[in-house]
Amino acid sequence: MTSLLVFGANGQLARSIAQAAEEVSIECERVGRDRLDLLAETTLDERLDAVLAGKSSCRMVINAAAYTQVDRAESEQAQAYQLNTTAAGAISSACERAGLPIVHISTDFVFSGPRNTPWSETDTTAPLGVYGTTKLAGETAVARANPRHLIIRTAWLLSEFPGNFLTTMLRLGTQRTSLSVVNDQVGSPTSTHELARTLVSLAQMSEYDCPPWGVYHFAGPDTMSWAELARRIFQRAGLDTPVQDIVAADYGAPAPRPAFSALDSGKLQRATGLSHRPVDVVLDEILQRRD
Ligand SMILES: NC(=O)c1ccc[n+]([C@@H]2O[C@H](COP(=O)([O-])OP(=O)(O)OC[C@H]3O[C@@H](n4cnc5c(N)ncnc54)[C@H](OP(=O)(O)O)[C@@H]3O)[C@@H](O)[C@H]2O)c1
Repeated sequence: MTSLLVFGANGQLARSIAQAAEEVSIECERVGRDRLDLLAETTLDERLDAVLAGKSSCRMVINAAAYTQVDRAESEQAQAYQLNTTAAGAISSACERAGLPIVHISTDFVFSGPRNTPWSETDTTAPLGVYGTTKLAGETAVARANPRHLIIRTAWLLSEFPGNFLTTMLRLGTQRTSLSVVNDQVGSPTSTHELARTLVSLAQMSEYDCPPWGVYHFAGPDTMSWAELARRIFQRAGLDTPVQDIVAADYGAPAPRPAFSALDSGKLQRATGLSHRPVDVVLDEILQRRD
């Protein structure tokens, strides 16, 4: 029987993976920080081995756990490094010892500008802040520890779960008379549900159909700024809150972010036929899930 083991339990992607697995009756076990705190450095390898013991028939192990607070990472470098680099490598290594492949989720923030066409997997990485730097080092650690790896870089994740750009915009859009949103950072809005369904589809593929091990991008096909995305969210949600364009320098976030980080997902699509639907379609799906 196909089964999934996911590191991350209550994160927006981990929850979406569990939903996508349930939709196709695949067993999905989530390992959250209450069961295994990836920040606790001592005996991590032994505790990972214990989690993976008896899981040799598992089709896929997905690491959806990460330190994702991009701004806070600038002042909590050690925690970001432990979670995004050391623990990612340790999970990959434990999978290798258990004879299992690893699917590791990474980020568009491994890139920086200047650029105006979506980044592909062969483009040179150059992260700007602590989050992107620790995620890129995590990719290297995962790849070194286990040759049977898929590293999937994604971007600008949106879902109905609290704490992402969509839910924040909807909350502020109903509280305020207008909003100022950054228009000089451009990326690929991506639904956690599209990514989750893709991961579940990969788990269902036979070894023959599965793409070769390596790095892949999976993100939405529409490229836009945060300000444009805010307008699109309000339009789909039926809110008329006006959005004023501002530049990132005026917003003054602690962490530097890439001016252009849209991802080209063509490599995975060519290898598997799997792709992400247009932004309006996935926004409508997420808004429906909120109802
Ligand atoms: N959010 C984005 O826009 C975005 C963009 C590009 C790439 N990504 C990548 O996509 C992946 C999923 O992101 P997300 O948005 O779903 O993140 P999220 O909602 O912030 O969830 C983070 C996950 O990490 C787990 N975690 C955090 N600290 C932990 C610890 N000390 N020990 C064990 N687990 C811990 C959490 O576990 P619990 O469930 O137990 O709390 C949670 O499941 C990450 O690799 C992220 O880097 C995200």
